[in-house]
Amino acid sequence: KHISLIGVPIDLGAEHRGVDMGPSAVRYARVREKLESLGYDIEDKGDILTSRPGSCFIDGTNLKYLDEIERVNTELCHMVAGEMEKGRFPLVLGGDHSIAIGTISGVLQHKKRLGVIWFDAHGDINTAETSPSGNIHGMPVAVSFGLGHERLTGVGGREAVLDPKKFVMIGIRDLDPGEKLLLKQLGVLVYTMHEIDMLGMARVMEEAIRIVSEDTDGVHVSFDMDVMDPLHAPGVGTPVFGGLTYRESHLAMELIAAANIVSSAEFVEINTVLDHRNQTAKVAVALMGSLLGERVL
Ligand code: ARG
Ligand code: MN
Ligand code: MN
Ligand code: MN
Repeated sequence: KHISLIGVPIDLGAEHRGVDMGPSAVRYARVREKLESLGYDIEDKGDILTSRPGSCFIDGTNLKYLDEIERVNTELCHMVAGEMEKGRFPLVLGGDHSIAIGTISGVLQHKKRLGVIWFDAHGDINTAETSPSGNIHGMPVAVSFGLGHERLTGVGGREAVLDPKKFVMIGIRDLDPGEKLLLKQLGVLVYTMHEIDMLGMARVMEEAIRIVSEDTDGVHVSFDMDVMDPLHAPGVGTPVFGGLTYRESHLAMELIAAANIVSSAEFVEINTVLDHRNQTAKVAVALMGSLLGERVL
């Protein structure tokens, strides 16, 4: 298999500065070497160019840095679609979670019926109307369903949208009131930490994999590092206690790998400023290994 690494050093969608250094941190943690050791052919496309907060425009709406986020995601969309066109697997390195807007719109150009497994402490299904923060990283799931500001839902000239019935969330433990409402209305399958504790990660993944792989032609894995417990992944901007352990996270990746369903992935929200000696980036690289087939024996 051929993998293309795409760095998106943007933090304009997030509450705190610092996730823009995620792609560097992941490269420092030897992502290329890890994936090459698994037998993949790796092409590192480098980073998409992004602007710094001080030089970007925030208007009065509840969509901070809309201009720049739209621009970066449009570029990302084209890059992802272009790599898939060449038969390569896009592995996108964030950056804040707003970049899922560009990744998913790019993937949708090749996989019209796409399943998604979304690992996150948060729902990221706000719109400008419901967001308490105005931070666009809290909105990409809504955008992927075609909901929200037209400059976000229109990224990449998007015609296709995701089917909420083929979208599964895992590890959720912090939802805003508007998000709860919308998740119920759309009928998204949400495995909160409660279900993970009750059923165990193996059973949760078995069900999730079945849902996203039935009647789809590809599966995207979007992994927000804050789905993990801050004990294991401290370098994130919006930590929430009570998250996935290191072992549960690896098991989830291994089960997806064993099902042989994944066609694209992104790892986001690594905040190097808040991290301890690059621990969170190292964990991310280890998880990428498991997702792409690494086994102990
Ligand atoms: N729900 C909160 C908001 O909308 C937090 C979102 C956190 N998202 C993330 N990608 N870390 O602002
Ligand atoms: Mn999150
Ligand atoms: Mn919250
Ligand atoms: Mn997120």
